[in-house]
Amino acid sequence: MLFGREDIRRRIEELGRTITGDYEGREPVLISVLKGGTVFLADLIREIPLPLRVDFMSISSYGRAAESMGRVRILKDLDEDIGGQHVIVVEDIVDTGLTLSYLLSVLESRGPASLEVCTLLDRSARRIAPLSLRYVGFDCPDVFVVGYGLDVGGRYRNLPDILAVEDQAAVTADPAALLPFLDPGAGR
Ligand code: IMP
Repeated sequence: MLFGREDIRRRIEELGRTITGDYEGREPVLISVLKGGTVFLADLIREIPLPLRVDFMSISSYGRAAESMGRVRILKDLDEDIGGQHVIVVEDIVDTGLTLSYLLSVLESRGPASLEVCTLLDRSARRIAPLSLRYVGFDCPDVFVVGYGLDVGGRYRNLPDILAVEDQAAVTADPAALLPFLDPGAGR
């Protein structure tokens, strides 16, 4: 276990307090990128007692070659115009940063009043695209992680804790390998 549910809860409380202080008197729009960021978003917004709105985007990369250029396709765009709005992009993990840097350039072109990033995990060791991340939950070591919104092949987003997967190939080959961790008693 890399980050347990209690550590996550406490850190989100702190992030919420900081964001609340920074955005007092404003009405931020928190944008989550489907699907990984949704669990974090759901907990984070309940620690920000300000009038705020949420919106969602869904993106997919164009494939391996294009992915390395950070090109993504927008599968679902925002419902609302963000022109003149104070926008916070809420991410599960920033890895190479390629996806996020493309997304930020798209959002920036729409003229928000401000644009910041709040990520639960920052795996800066693998960063390719330089990014400034205003709010970071935890620095993440260079291991594949799963749980609390993060998936392997679509599974395990509902794990309350964040686990480091030592043998990613084994879990990809046997998707049931982490099932015991879904036991409500596991990790407590
Ligand atoms: P980036 O463009 O390389 O920064 O990719 C970021 C996205 O890849 C995240 O939003 C996640 O959806 C996914 N991702 C990166 N690392 C992990 C991981 O360790 N576990 C699960 N998903 C990951």
